[in-house]
Amino acid sequence: MARTLQPKDAELVASRLLDASARGSYDPHIDIDWSAPLEDGKAYMPLERVSLYGTDLWRGLSQEQRIELSKHEIASIASVGLWFEIVLMQLLVRYVYDLDPRSAHAQYALTEIGDETRHSIMFAKAITRFGAPAYGPVKPIHTAGKVYGALAGGPSMFGAVLVAEEATDRLQRATMDDPDMQPLIRMVNRIHVVEEARHVRFAREEVLREVPKLNRAQLEAHRWLLALTAFGVMDALVNPRVYRCVGIDPRQGRAAALANPHHRETRRWMTEKVTGFLAEAGLVGGPSKRVLKAAHLI
Ligand SMILES: [Fe+2]
Ligand SMILES: [Fe+2]
Repeated sequence: MARTLQPKDAELVASRLLDASARGSYDPHIDIDWSAPLEDGKAYMPLERVSLYGTDLWRGLSQEQRIELSKHEIASIASVGLWFEIVLMQLLVRYVYDLDPRSAHAQYALTEIGDETRHSIMFAKAITRFGAPAYGPVKPIHTAGKVYGALAGGPSMFGAVLVAEEATDRLQRATMDDPDMQPLIRMVNRIHVVEEARHVRFAREEVLREVPKLNRAQLEAHRWLLALTAFGVMDALVNPRVYRCVGIDPRQGRAAALANPHHRETRRWMTEKVTGFLAEAGLVGGPSKRVLKAAHLI
């Protein structure tokens, strides 16, 4: 497709996003009934999106075990999402540091930080309610997040934010309208989808505004950074420790998931919209695409 995407006026976009935030924001303390019982027999994410779906290991699990694994996988995805939100808050705080606080653009960035604090609390409460561990990413990614949060900036930063937000958004949209899913996770996902739509708009505009300012070398550097960050975040979503909940050795479960064509397809499905946008914006392209291919993200 030709370069048809053009950024809109930053102040106009931010003003609209501020209005939308004032109309539709949620408080996890008030808007979710945490004492509502969990329903027996209902999965926590679509079973065909669980990492072991379709493998020999999956065939060896009872229906109860499959549902249990769906609970732990969504808890892992929520905990990694929460970890990324905390990194994102740090990135946004550093971003807004240099902006004129009177601008709608700065005020929307501050609003988004507020949204993410509530999301992180919401995901933490959901994990607690499910009785699952706060898995988070594996240690090297956890450490890398600290460095990334302190140093990252520019279009690849907003590009990486988009990958994390849009990929989880796809899974959440598939869950929120499905009556076979647990009502609690559907509610959590619905709230997140509504508020993330605004974040996606903000980050996409920022990418469209900033990429054309890069020279050739800078563009390649940002492409590489984006590809590596997208790989790290997407690969971290399912912590291998989740497999223990159904008696599967983490290494064995992880190896089966990585070799599983259904899981590879799920990764592509989660990221296809955002990688399409980023390719059109110029941030996905060149030799770094090999990283995204190896991660089954394109
Ligand atoms: Fe969020
Ligand atoms: Fe967000």
